[in-house]
Amino acid sequence: MGKPALIPFPRNYREMEGTLELYGIGRISIPDELKTETDHFLSVSGLAMTENDPVLEGKLSSSIHEEGYFLRISKDSINIEAGGASGFHHALETIRQMLILCGHTIPCAEIEDSPQFGWRGFMLDCCRHFMPVEYIKKLIDAMSLLKLSVFHWHLTDDQGWRIEIKSHPELTEKGSTRKKRTSPESMTKCEFFTQDEIKDVIEYAARRHITVVPEIECPGHVSALLTAIPEAGCSGGPYEVETRTGVFPDVLCIGNEKPYEILDDVFREVAELFPSEYIHIGGDECPHTRWDNCPKCQALMQKEGLKSPQELQWYFSQRVIGIVKKYGKKPIGWDEIANSYPEKPLDKCLTIMLWRGPEVASAVLENGNDIILARCDDGAYIDYRQTENEYEPGNLGITTLRASYSSTLHYPCSNESGTIIGGQGNLWTEKILFPNNATYMIFPRLAAIAEVYWLGDDRKLDDFMRRVKELPVLLENEGLNPGLCIPE
Ligand code: ACM
Ligand code: ZN
Repeated sequence: MGKPALIPFPRNYREMEGTLELYGIGRISIPDELKTETDHFLSVSGLAMTENDPVLEGKLSSSIHEEGYFLRISKDSINIEAGGASGFHHALETIRQMLILCGHTIPCAEIEDSPQFGWRGFMLDCCRHFMPVEYIKKLIDAMSLLKLSVFHWHLTDDQGWRIEIKSHPELTEKGSTRKKRTSPESMTKCEFFTQDEIKDVIEYAARRHITVVPEIECPGHVSALLTAIPEAGCSGGPYEVETRTGVFPDVLCIGNEKPYEILDDVFREVAELFPSEYIHIGGDECPHTRWDNCPKCQALMQKEGLKSPQELQWYFSQRVIGIVKKYGKKPIGWDEIANSYPEKPLDKCLTIMLWRGPEVASAVLENGNDIILARCDDGAYIDYRQTENEYEPGNLGITTLRASYSSTLHYPCSNESGTIIGGQGNLWTEKILFPNNATYMIFPRLAAIAEVYWLGDDRKLDDFMRRVKELPVLLENEGLNPGLCIPE
């Protein structure tokens, strides 16, 4: 019956003769470690336990990659060998894609599959426009179907502080509401996620083998934080949660202890809340006009022998990295953090998220820092328009589906001690007022990104362009609006 339009397409797919009628599961034979994944599969696929239906057999094998699996679909059974529980989950998601695409008659096949990269991510900005938990869960369902592994949650920015911090309730009391409407719904309530809601999202994602990585922006993009705690800025305020978009001059005061005290409290709570080994500390787009004119920042530069604003930001980054490490986590920062290289490199535990051009990549790798790819000019910015059409929605630039599928995966490095651990798609929401607008921007490009970081060097553009036409069928199954821009 031909190969189904799976995304990401498995690394090795061998067609076998015949089909499997899959209306229910007759018997399950799995070790206890795989029970959670099996129960989840039964509940989301709608398959019941029935007599006379096919057998599902699963086991773990230490010779297979943790996220990898071997799947055999024959006329009367499904056999899975997986490296770990995540690999078993991926195998079941392959079957679920087949059920959605082919109905209850799925093709017999032997599939051997594993990802090239561990970090296969999606970033959602919930600051510029708030996105409800129920919608985020639908996106997580789609991410699971596409075998993505990381949900990067952008939680603080100029236009809103969106995470409850119990030791500083003022952050959400004052920092989560704007004075002026930016969308029909934005002034009706304070918009933020409580810690209970965040735990719920983390657990929901974990059941789908997706890690939630929070981002707390600093020292720039902090208008919402400064509105709540003006003493953390160079001038002392007053400040306002931004209703405009862009980059703003008021940033954290580096020569003042207040920001470090606040960030210590924030990162302590964030580290307790999120099981992720990583926390994103921001670091992008931080102007230094306030530092140039601030007696405290200037005195610190004198005292520490810091020669430029880049070195001042380096000093700040080192302190924040120290806080994150103290709470047992590994920091990630946007690539501006590495602007102080090569004179002032950062702690090797820092992973750089590369969002601008490639120039900085080699210095970062040579210093031994890992990289996550998310370049705005290389397919990762899915808030950009998808076509040349001037009426196409989107912000700033153009990212075609083909560009998302063609991202660069290798960078020259003379002495490679850092590693490229994967990449992601980023959705900034300055111009995205509602979840359905977000869905239109996210897909199909996130499907391309999912396949890029799964198949890596084995990806095949023409084959993907053929299969992606069926993506709306997969998304509709997850309750996501399928009105997408799918090019020929
Ligand atoms: C960014 O787009 N400013 C990371
Ligand atoms: Zn200052």
